[in-house]
Amino acid sequence: MFDFATTAADKAAIHADLLAAADAVTAGETDGVANMANVAALIWQFLPDLNWAGFYRMIEGELVLGPFQGKAACIRIPIGRGVCGTAAATRSTQLVADVHAFPGHIACDAASASEVVVPIVIDGLLTGVLDLDSPLPGRFDEQDARALEALIGRIGARLR
Ligand code: SME
Repeated sequence: MFDFATTAADKAAIHADLLAAADAVTAGETDGVANMANVAALIWQFLPDLNWAGFYRMIEGELVLGPFQGKAACIRIPIGRGVCGTAAATRSTQLVADVHAFPGHIACDAASASEVVVPIVIDGLLTGVLDLDSPLPGRFDEQDARALEALIGRIGARLR
């Protein structure tokens, strides 16, 4: 069994613990779905104030729901639609303090107030996105975005 935990109080230390745990749990495993499932579970366990955390995979030109924690979610998202589709289309992290102000935001869970989506690009190929939702407005800041990008930079190649 795995028994990862964080007792860190400050955000940078929690991010460091999350990165270490995600790196350890995915090291040596080649199945991307298994790795996405464990990473979604770790994000859910380590980061406070989330109502959804998980992955959409790029399959035949659209984003398809992957492993996640939270309520059942929208299954297919066209590239360019919503926060996830925008992250995929632009290949840039989307930091959204108020999802209701984001044009075309796709409401999968009415509780979501803020969101951060990080694209996963491996060898120039977009393979999916990491999506985190929070019931708190403005839950995610630049520090969260950079930490999640660092996480994807470290283990993104194990998530496909
Ligand atoms: N809100 C997202 C859709 C995915 S869910 O939040 C799980 C979006 O606008 O792309």
